[in-house]
Amino acid sequence: MLASTSNSHIVWLGLAPLIAPAVHGQCQSGQTSSGACSASAPAPSAQSPLIPSERPPFYLGTATSAPQIEGAVSTDGRSQSVWDHWAASPGHIYHNETPNVADNFFHRYPEDIALMQRLGLRHFRFSVAWPRVIPSGSGAVSTEGLTFYSCVLDKLLAANIQPVVTLYHWDLPQVLQDRYGGWLSDRVVADYLKFANAVFSALGDRVTLWATFNEPWTFCFNGYGTGGHAPGIPDRSGEKGQVWQCVGNVLRSHAAAVQLFRELVPKGKISMALNSDWCEPLTSSAEDKEAAARQMDFQISIFADPIYLGDWPKSVKERAPPNLLPITPDLAAALNGTSDLFYLNFYTARYVFNQPGALGEWSAGRTDTNSTFFGRDRKPIGGETCAPDWFYVTPWAMRKMLNWVDQRYGHPDIIITENGVCLPGEAATLPGVLNDTKLIEFHRDYVQSAMQAVALDKVKVLGYFIWSIYDNWEWNLGTSDRFGLVWVDFANEQARHPKASTEWVSRWFTRE
Ligand SMILES: *[C@@H]1O[C@H](CO)[C@@H](O)[C@H](O)[C@H]1NC(C)=O
Ligand SMILES: *[C@@H]1O[C@H](CO)[C@@H](O)[C@H](O)[C@H]1NC(C)=O
Ligand SMILES: *[C@@H]1O[C@H](CO)[C@@H](O)[C@H](O)[C@H]1NC(C)=O
Repeated sequence: MLASTSNSHIVWLGLAPLIAPAVHGQCQSGQTSSGACSASAPAPSAQSPLIPSERPPFYLGTATSAPQIEGAVSTDGRSQSVWDHWAASPGHIYHNETPNVADNFFHRYPEDIALMQRLGLRHFRFSVAWPRVIPSGSGAVSTEGLTFYSCVLDKLLAANIQPVVTLYHWDLPQVLQDRYGGWLSDRVVADYLKFANAVFSALGDRVTLWATFNEPWTFCFNGYGTGGHAPGIPDRSGEKGQVWQCVGNVLRSHAAAVQLFRELVPKGKISMALNSDWCEPLTSSAEDKEAAARQMDFQISIFADPIYLGDWPKSVKERAPPNLLPITPDLAAALNGTSDLFYLNFYTARYVFNQPGALGEWSAGRTDTNSTFFGRDRKPIGGETCAPDWFYVTPWAMRKMLNWVDQRYGHPDIIITENGVCLPGEAATLPGVLNDTKLIEFHRDYVQSAMQAVALDKVKVLGYFIWSIYDNWEWNLGTSDRFGLVWVDFANEQARHPKASTEWVSRWFTRE
């Protein structure tokens, strides 16, 4: 898609450019919660060895997403998302928990933002729910839906907290899944652009940092590959190439949205938040080293290479999975320059080994790789978390991952847009749960590894976002896996209980 033809693309979609819909209506006033802050947690002092001695220079905050915190899933005409639909079927989510209430952020954001202000958070990353903004998926824009986000923004800015807004964090309107198969159809590109237009027009005057997508790898490979995430349309053998249809439509949507963004939010910065495990070769053999590199290709480079380098990774092209979108010169040109910073979601590492003919664990087609969390010595790659099927504690891998991004993509500015953990062995109930020393150690160690990349390797890491300020509704894991700095009592009206880590983050963020 050439820039000039994309302009007509926008006209063709009938978008009303540059005119922000009037967003008015009542915002929530401050609200006191029942039972918040009932016990106090021990707090590390600023001199504590737990407080990292350095911090990235600009962006410090926490990250979350609409479906995981908002609740209020049918308020003001919000429609069902694919995740609401998925959660409504028994057996998909831990204890069949729904996102219907989640943290009830929709009603409690004033007190939540007041807490963020007290902690000294400088940034708050959240997402906008497409089914709240355009309930029919592709038709009329909901003023009420936009008003909610407008109110959140005003509150944040009044508290001197800069928003970072993600457009799409996995919550496709179910109606679009039903109508044409969601991300499997290129019809989604035009509808995504309408959604982006509504959000940029209404909120673009108050938000500088944006993400078009969060972790497209995760929703493409799980949603349309393994079938283990919403919408749960499996292609386990990779034969149908569903994953690649999704990846292609994400790239096209991203390119179109960024072009619109340049017109509507000329002073803003935008990118796509990409995730990847660090792939460590299982052995020092050349085959395993190549396999590890290949697995990085199939996770993060399938998005970052087309954007930064103008083509698919060589290993992907060689394996030519079905439905791999050709990166034409026009598409490469449309993608060029659409990532102002590198947004990296980083959690863990895995060992990767060469396995000729292997289909790839995520239904990507033939990747000739396989992976394990256990080394030749049978030891796990890192410390235990409460999600051992996808995650071990590997702070050392943060530095390696950052160096890899730095080298492959030409020394970009990087923001770590997510990092966090849920750990076993912390107390599970009040008041012991408030003494979460291990969570503090986790963040301290990952931050120190990131700061080594900055100080020793000259990687440009500009920020760090903790996943997450609150325990969230964690997709299939429901409320079983808690990543929050603040413990949420889901059985008692989502009462918020700040923990030791809450105070730790405050002291780290505000230290001179
Ligand atoms: C992107 O555009 C710039 C400026 O026109 C050009 O120098 C660069 O080679 C392009 N990058 C790719 C990957 O095509
Ligand atoms: C990957 O390796 C594991 C052993 O570590 C094996 O059980 C599994 O079947 C392999 N997966 C594939 C897709 O071959
Ligand atoms: C908090 O937990 C740590 C171990 O994780 C323990 O050493 C410390 O004494 C506890 N502090 C309090 C105040 O209970």
